[in-house]
Amino acid sequence: MKNILVTGGAGFIGSNYIYYMLEKHPDYRIVCIDNLTYAGNLETLKKAMENKNFRFVRGDITDRKAVNSIFKAEGFTAVVNFAAESHVDRSIEEPEVFLKTNILGTQVLLDACRKFGNIRYHQVSTDEVYGDLPLDRPDLFFTENTPIHTSSPYSASKASADLIVMAYYRTYGLPVTVSRCSNNYGPYHFPEKLIPLMIINALNKKELPVYGEGLNVRDWLYVKDHCKAIDMIVENGRIGEVYNIGGHNERTNIDVVKTIIKILGRDESLIKYVKDRPGHDLRYAIDPTKIKNELGWEPETTFEEGIQLTVKWYLENRYWWENIINGEYMKYYEKMYGGR
Ligand code: NAD
Ligand code: TYD
Repeated sequence: MKNILVTGGAGFIGSNYIYYMLEKHPDYRIVCIDNLTYAGNLETLKKAMENKNFRFVRGDITDRKAVNSIFKAEGFTAVVNFAAESHVDRSIEEPEVFLKTNILGTQVLLDACRKFGNIRYHQVSTDEVYGDLPLDRPDLFFTENTPIHTSSPYSASKASADLIVMAYYRTYGLPVTVSRCSNNYGPYHFPEKLIPLMIINALNKKELPVYGEGLNVRDWLYVKDHCKAIDMIVENGRIGEVYNIGGHNERTNIDVVKTIIKILGRDESLIKYVKDRPGHDLRYAIDPTKIKNELGWEPETTFEEGIQLTVKWYLENRYWWENIINGEYMKYYEKMYGGR
């Protein structure tokens, strides 16, 4: 029986992956370790907890003792590492925890994979490790051979982790893969990120803070398509390889914001252009040829469908985000946007 450790599964993509896997592979055991930072939410895993093949453990991936004891008890067949500090703006304010969790936490997991029987390891990384592309060269895309060229403490910490993962493959022969995905959106996305922040503010008739002129471009992928890609890589990906994941859904930020305004029937006067993010990456765009050719992966959800589904989810799951924005999150919001 397959027994997969999912780290960071109380966050956005990890929780979607857990639900995807429990449905797709009802015979697998899935164990989640998450230390429930501000971004982790047990409420998100409530339904998973009812499944007898699922176990949640509160624990920190940088805690070697705790990690080793769960590896010893469980006998994992694979590890998928989602656990990370994930928000660029927070990494600009307080970089240290990004280095600790994203780099050292990865190392602790890799060491445990070696110690407990050369366990299959997958690192969930990001296209942000490639830096950015110019706005006036729509012909350029990130391939797996694009040099690492990071901009923010967040992307630098993710790139460092990728290099360590590949070093464990080359040096110790650990069976690893790395995936680098573009921006995700969908259910359970923490309200600090662009799409959920705009949906929730628009619903509450609050200002919509757009950085700079809103012309930066992101390549959006519906989260379920990302989960499917990871499953395919863990099952059939070539060991020691990197796979880019993205579905050619480039949009300027202002386009995304206007689309949300339109779906919710709000007015564009809610848009407020605010001071830009320092070092703001201009454009991300993935070339997914490798994963398509090697594993047959293709996205199933267009941006038009996905954004409708996402807005609908936030409308139907108010309890989930109202709990968040009523708590600690408001202090963060005031700090980041108060004087902007
Ligand atoms: P998220 O911030 O929503 O969730 C992160 C989860 O990790 C939270 O549940 C948090 O509690 C947990 N966590 C943090 N530090 C931990 C620690 N030390 N020990 C155990 N758990 C810890 O992030 P997300 O958006 O779901 O991203 C998941 C992964 O995917 C990250 O590695 C991120 O770099 C990568 N990624 C994200 C995107 C995106 O668009 N969100 C795109 C590509 C790649
Ligand atoms: P974000 O969701 O933070 O993801 P990332 O920076 O990892 O791509 O931001 C997506 C884009 O939206 C990015 O170009 C920054 C921009 N943005 C805003 O314009 N306003 C906001 O309030 C936020 C959070 C982001």
